[in-house]
Amino acid sequence: MDMGYIDEFAARLGLQFWPERVPRHVAIVMDGNGRWARRQGLERSAGHRRGVEALENIVIGCRKLGVEYLTVYAFSTENWSRPKAEVGTLMNLLSEFADKKLNRLKENHVRVQVIGDFAGLPLLQRMALKHLMEATAVEDKLVLNLALNYGGRADILQAVKKAAALPPARLQTMTEEDFAGLLQTAGQPEPDLLIRTSGELRLSNFLLWQLAYAEFYFTDTLWPDFDEAELFRAICAYQGRSRRFGALSEE
Ligand code: IPE
Ligand code: IPE
Ligand code: MG
Repeated sequence: MDMGYIDEFAARLGLQFWPERVPRHVAIVMDGNGRWARRQGLERSAGHRRGVEALENIVIGCRKLGVEYLTVYAFSTENWSRPKAEVGTLMNLLSEFADKKLNRLKENHVRVQVIGDFAGLPLLQRMALKHLMEATAVEDKLVLNLALNYGGRADILQAVKKAAALPPARLQTMTEEDFAGLLQTAGQPEPDLLIRTSGELRLSNFLLWQLAYAEFYFTDTLWPDFDEAELFRAICAYQGRSRRFGALSEE
């Protein structure tokens, strides 16, 4: 946590920040790159490129605010149905991100992991990502989960298949916590805060199981414009929520 950074944003935005109420895990649906580009009279690919820059800033912002886990939806299992050229652009940006941002991520002690069907990604991207994951494996300030070729239903289904292979006695006594340990986010706390940019109000098959009790924050800001001040606002909004988990609030 970087108190100088926090105090500066709090003063600039006129918001109160509670260091003891930082979400441990933030999940983001990074949406609106295409619309951002169209509004600037640019190709959709230019929006995706700007989206990568926005991601870099948000990763660093999360680290400074004391977030421990950040999961970003970068490519869904449904995104394969976009035009081939756009899928190609996204894949190229992915390997470029892995190569070019490695040093900056390491400097910030960010550990990168991938959730999603890794084997279904093209070879070049798998190689670049494998290198990125290995090279950051020792970092311990922030875990960045890149959701790539990810679908919430696919995640649950692969967990069900693992569960089905267990001895019947273990399957019979399986708890929700045990099952969560078979999901791709095994060992991580559930997201406390879900952010979706671009004004769309849906999950689009993101972390379906894991978001059961997350607080939702929607903004009309398009992803390439989502900056550290917007992140700060989202976290302050989260801090003002009353999380009851079905019980009664403390007040
Ligand atoms: C989000 O931006 C990036 C990905 C889904 C990969 P979009 O490409 O969905 O942008 P819009 O929603 O068309 O504006
Ligand atoms: C969700 O955004 C997936 C990612 C941000 C990677 P989409 O733009 O693909 O979602 P829909 O199609 O609007 O639901
Ligand atoms: Mg979209």
